Amino acid sequence: MRLKVLLVGGGAREHALAWAIAQSADCEALYCAPGNAGIESFAECVPIAIDDVEALTLFAQEKAIDLVVVGPEAPLVKGLADKLRDIGIAVFGPSANAARLEGSKGFMKDLCAQQNIPTARYQRFTDPAAADAFIETLHPPIVVKADGLAAGKGVVIAQTKKEARRAAHDMLSGNAFGAAGTEIVIEEFLDGEELSYFVLTDGVSVLPLASAQDHKRAYDHDQGPNTGGMGAYAPAHLMTPELEQKILERIIQPTIEGLAAIECPYIGVLYAGIMVVKDEPYLIEYNVRFGDPECQVIIPRLQGDWLEIFAAAANGWLESVKENIRWRTDTALCVVMAAQGYPGEPMKNTTIKNLEVAQEAEDVIVFHAATRRADDGTLRAMGGRVLGITAMGADVAQARDKAYKAVDMIDWPEGFCRRDIGWRALPKA
Ligand code: AMP
Ligand code: GLY
Repeated sequence: MRLKVLLVGGGAREHALAWAIAQSADCEALYCAPGNAGIESFAECVPIAIDDVEALTLFAQEKAIDLVVVGPEAPLVKGLADKLRDIGIAVFGPSANAARLEGSKGFMKDLCAQQNIPTARYQRFTDPAAADAFIETLHPPIVVKADGLAAGKGVVIAQTKKEARRAAHDMLSGNAFGAAGTEIVIEEFLDGEELSYFVLTDGVSVLPLASAQDHKRAYDHDQGPNTGGMGAYAPAHLMTPELEQKILERIIQPTIEGLAAIECPYIGVLYAGIMVVKDEPYLIEYNVRFGDPECQVIIPRLQGDWLEIFAAAANGWLESVKENIRWRTDTALCVVMAAQGYPGEPMKNTTIKNLEVAQEAEDVIVFHAATRRADDGTLRAMGGRVLGITAMGADVAQARDKAYKAVDMIDWPEGFCRRDIGWRALPKA
């Protein structure tokens, strides 16, 4: 089977996906829209925006693409997968209806309620007075969420009822997140430790992938503002075979069955944000894509052919490839390097040197997130999160040491990273 593949996205997640897909013997051609300076070495990058559904569909048709792999959620929520399937192109990524798991928090919570999936107690609101009445019944902290996509910022953990009411009113008025916030979910706060859990599915069969732990705050010791993720490692230290079984049986399986029952089967990767409270898993949120940086620590751990797996999920024969899958036993750890200013306004167009040297470091892969090759050949930082330095090691400490050794080889004074990625999994110093 020789496949022409279109990968949609341009971050480090897509660099990791391109790196994996290009290694497959089945890969005849790989295009990436829009890609970045790192992806260029594996794929032909085409300047189409990730949410330009029309242009992506047209491109896939013109190039006779066999499989489209979609990285980010925005094009999925906008119906890219539906459009492509309508014209007979296989897609690794859910339909717009199934992507509501991420695109509408209320939809996700209602599905949980219907399927008895353990999650925080909640209600949905469009009316501020009704929201106030529910807030009165809860004990702070109280969690207020915009229903729609809000670029990862639509969640407020309010420490008082007053703060919860203010957050709810700001969202409902449209002031906080526009249309994404005119419906909200208010829920109880769950106090525990978080992990990310990933499976692939073709709508029926489920392939467990991995657990990982992200680091959302910008600075060491979990200080500073929230970000898209400053580093990750896999597998997560608190994962056990018993916990994984509970997550699969109580959360993942009923979700896949619930979606199939309402005729929106889920095809693609499903990312569950899990809160572990006293060894019991609760679903915090779903994302309909790989996490980033989590993707960068999951992809390199497979001993096998990712393209074969993506194609199998997209075409409904995932069950038949399951027995080919082997995981490396070592730990992967990724340190994100961001431009100073991130997650606010990042410094742009600064020059990154010595990346070639870091790339050669032992057991290290450098993934690009927001880079551009300037006309003079230098590598420039073009966004907030700019690079992901992933290393493999026998345990978290070894992977961390290798990753930071490579980080320290990179000459980029305008960049920064956290120095404590993996700290939860390491003995206290
Ligand atoms: P989300 O955008 O849904 O991922 O929420 C962002 C973050 O808010 C999560 O990663 C959690 O750390 C936190 N969070 C969301 N919902 C809850 C909850 N019910 N209890 C505790 N923390 C939560
Ligand atoms: N790393 C968190 C996310 O991708 O949403």
